[in-house]
Amino acid sequence: MDNRRYHITTFGCQMNKADSERMAGILDDMGMTWIEDPLAADLVVYNTCTIRDHAEHKVYSYLGKQTKRKHKNPNLTLVVAGCVAQQEGEALLRRVPELDLVMGPQHANRLGDLLEQVFDGNQVVATEPIHIMEDITKPRRDSKISAWVNVIYGCNERCTYCVVPGVRGVEQSRTPDAIRAEMELLGQQGYTEVTLLGQNIDAYGRDLPGITAEGRRQNTLTDLLYYVHDVPGIERIRFATSHPRYFTERLIKACAELPKVCEHFHIPFQSGDNDVLKAMARGYTHEKYRRIIDTVRRYVPDAAISADAIVGFPGETEEQFQNTLKLVEDIGFDMLNTAAYSPRPNTPAALWDSQLDDATKSDRLQRLNHLVSIQAAERSQRYANRIERVMIEATNPKSPHQVMGRTRTNRLTFCKGDINELKGKIVEVKITEVRPFSLTGERVESLVRV
Ligand code: SAH
Ligand code: SF4
Ligand code: F3S
Repeated sequence: MDNRRYHITTFGCQMNKADSERMAGILDDMGMTWIEDPLAADLVVYNTCTIRDHAEHKVYSYLGKQTKRKHKNPNLTLVVAGCVAQQEGEALLRRVPELDLVMGPQHANRLGDLLEQVFDGNQVVATEPIHIMEDITKPRRDSKISAWVNVIYGCNERCTYCVVPGVRGVEQSRTPDAIRAEMELLGQQGYTEVTLLGQNIDAYGRDLPGITAEGRRQNTLTDLLYYVHDVPGIERIRFATSHPRYFTERLIKACAELPKVCEHFHIPFQSGDNDVLKAMARGYTHEKYRRIIDTVRRYVPDAAISADAIVGFPGETEEQFQNTLKLVEDIGFDMLNTAAYSPRPNTPAALWDSQLDDATKSDRLQRLNHLVSIQAAERSQRYANRIERVMIEATNPKSPHQVMGRTRTNRLTFCKGDINELKGKIVEVKITEVRPFSLTGERVESLVRV
């Protein structure tokens, strides 16, 4: 048994959060205990993100404090995991020689083995591409209600701005049986919601055989949804992130037909201009994107639609940016993650000489964000006086007499209640207050299960 106290700080996307939960599970399994304060831990893992320059820099400032501690306490173990680790590899050791372990995201499940090498006195770099092993330990999940389940790792696209294919490697789909088995266990443990995860989750299964030995089709996300839909105990199923290239009408139909699949679609469009989309190598036009959303709304009229967008891509003109505003105006998003383009190492667009200045990028970002907040407020209005089914997850950190959860469409909702009674339950809430990104209401009638 190992009595070290460990801390993991996680940056970046849901994929990293899921990896951190699995790494924490491995450390628990080794006998270590979680400690909240990173500056009191014996082993610290930074699970890093490099999607934008800012995300990468954060980790270096955190590391500065830890390396100082390490000079006083040589027994401190320092680990950098995730996407910066993969991007920098050996170079990270030269920059921060105090590190004990640098490990890419594909190695998350191997943390135990890698640490054994470290405890034997080695400084270890694990960034070679590997086949991701099925995880045999139990993740230490942050929530007791809602769980991430990895479905497909990696990305086979080549968007010209993006580091992900370089740091997460090629697509690797888990088998439907492994996914279902994990969900069944979650159902038995009392989890009620599962979010299926992948960088491009709708590309799921392209690397699997199309037909199982029993003759069942298993090659798409749609088939997977039908296959896992009846897992006992799991009442809500979500999935993210979808790529417009792979988002089929059949998938939309399945979402409309399967009662547990929630009415929320996260489909990034990145730009509303066809020339910019082409320069980004996204593989679709804004017309195609609009058709997808039309189809979603035809089958699932109340669906919440969210997306990601980039402003200030190299060469983006004011007119091209206006096309992004126009797309946003026309569609009416419930939520939009926006970002100013950030040039990234080993990506084609970073080398182009048509880079925009920071002032132009931040001006466009502000204008887009302004539009988004107006729209989100408008979209929220439709909930006023409606009765929504809310799955209660936690106490409202700002008000101890209130609990909070989400609607099927993923709107954060508050209402009066006791978490001990309501945790994981689905309650009916009459919405009395609407804000752009959250709602407040009063509970009506008794508890219901979907
Ligand atoms: N696979 C998903 C998104 C993955 S990355 C997709 O293709 O849609 C998450 C988001 O980060 C992207 O949607 C994009 O909006 C943003 N992003 C990625 N690289 C970026 C960069 N170099 N600069 C700014 N934003 C970026
Ligand atoms: Fe990056 Fe494009 Fe892959 Fe999304 S699809 S992760 S934006 S390369
Ligand atoms: Fe960041 Fe890696 Fe996710 S770069 S956004 S943590 S895939």
